[in-house]
Amino acid sequence: MNILLLGGTRFVGRHIAEAALQRGHAVTTFTRGNNPLPDTLSLVGDRKKGDLKALEGRTWDAVVDVNAYLPREVREAIEVLKGRVGSYAFISTVSVYQESSEPLHETSPLLLASDPMAEEVTGETYGGLKVLCELEVEQAFGERSFTVRPHLVVGPHDPTDRFTYWLRRFAGGGSVLVPGKPEHTLQFVDARDLGEFVVLGLEKGLSGPYNGASTPVSWGSLVEACQRVIPNPAEAVWADEQWLLDNRVTPWTDLPAWVPSFAPGRGIGQTQNARAQAAGFTMRPLLQTVQELLAWDATRSEPLKAGISRERELELIKRWPG
Ligand SMILES: NC(=O)c1ccc[n+]([C@@H]2O[C@H](COP(=O)([O-])OP(=O)(O)OC[C@H]3O[C@@H](n4cnc5c(N)ncnc54)[C@H](OP(=O)(O)O)[C@@H]3O)[C@@H](O)[C@H]2O)c1
Repeated sequence: MNILLLGGTRFVGRHIAEAALQRGHAVTTFTRGNNPLPDTLSLVGDRKKGDLKALEGRTWDAVVDVNAYLPREVREAIEVLKGRVGSYAFISTVSVYQESSEPLHETSPLLLASDPMAEEVTGETYGGLKVLCELEVEQAFGERSFTVRPHLVVGPHDPTDRFTYWLRRFAGGGSVLVPGKPEHTLQFVDARDLGEFVVLGLEKGLSGPYNGASTPVSWGSLVEACQRVIPNPAEAVWADEQWLLDNRVTPWTDLPAWVPSFAPGRGIGQTQNARAQAAGFTMRPLLQTVQELLAWDATRSEPLKAGISRERELELIKRWPG
């Protein structure tokens, strides 16, 4: 296939591009041109400014819209591409779902954007605006629209460091503050598994929404995987969830990927992947995700962009009455 990616050179899109190349497809990326990928055709324009001229006069079998956050951005791309792409895949997010204590399915209720015309993407507007983006694609492409809703995406080139936080902490030795109990779970999706599924979906002509999420794994197995592959790894200090909250440790941001097991929104940690699995989505072993992410992280020297500071973590560990 001849595949166009809107975006495609940073993280989520980059792994879709790599999966497409590996499966023998031709890849075009449309970006501002900061980081062109080898073996692809790089078209340059600025989507935020509505500069889509480089897309004119060409055709593709499919487009994967990776980097749209506003319905206006999707509408503008559709205007240029309608009639010139076979199918339209949209990279959405599990943040489109309303908060729920129940496991999330593709049919779970979606958020309503409070301001459909909002131009600023914040924690509050992100999910609702993505719902509207999905709708734009569905309305224009019908059966030829394919939506993937990823969970926390994990892997090499992750610019957010959220999962990387845990690996870096365990690699640093000493003690690491871990939320709850070993049997509590967390959820994410390996970026390579996600990339392969998106490309598979294009090949198979999948339509409609699919959650892109691993089956939840236990915090105990994440700790074990880190301790297996890291020489002289840190010890885990398992801190009670309520105690963490009482000490103003913020779920998800201070301790990345942590959704308290009793939180009203805990359903996001039980996002169902049966529909994607039935369509061919597969997951690599956790140990492989950990090993490969560690190898990539070892090539970098940047400080972590996610999680609490080491100083605060050590202070909490000292105070934990455990
Ligand atoms: N990370 C997660 O955990 C997670 C979870 C759920 C959903 N998602 C979804 O994943 C997607 C983002 O992934 P990503 O950023 O890693 O994707 P990506 O496609 O790999 O990277 C973003 C791309 O957008 C290009 N770009 C940025 N601004 C642009 C502009 N104004 N005009 C044209 N191109 C522009 C960048 O290249 P240039 O800099 O060269 O322009 C880059 O290629 C989003 O849809 C997000 O909602 C992510």
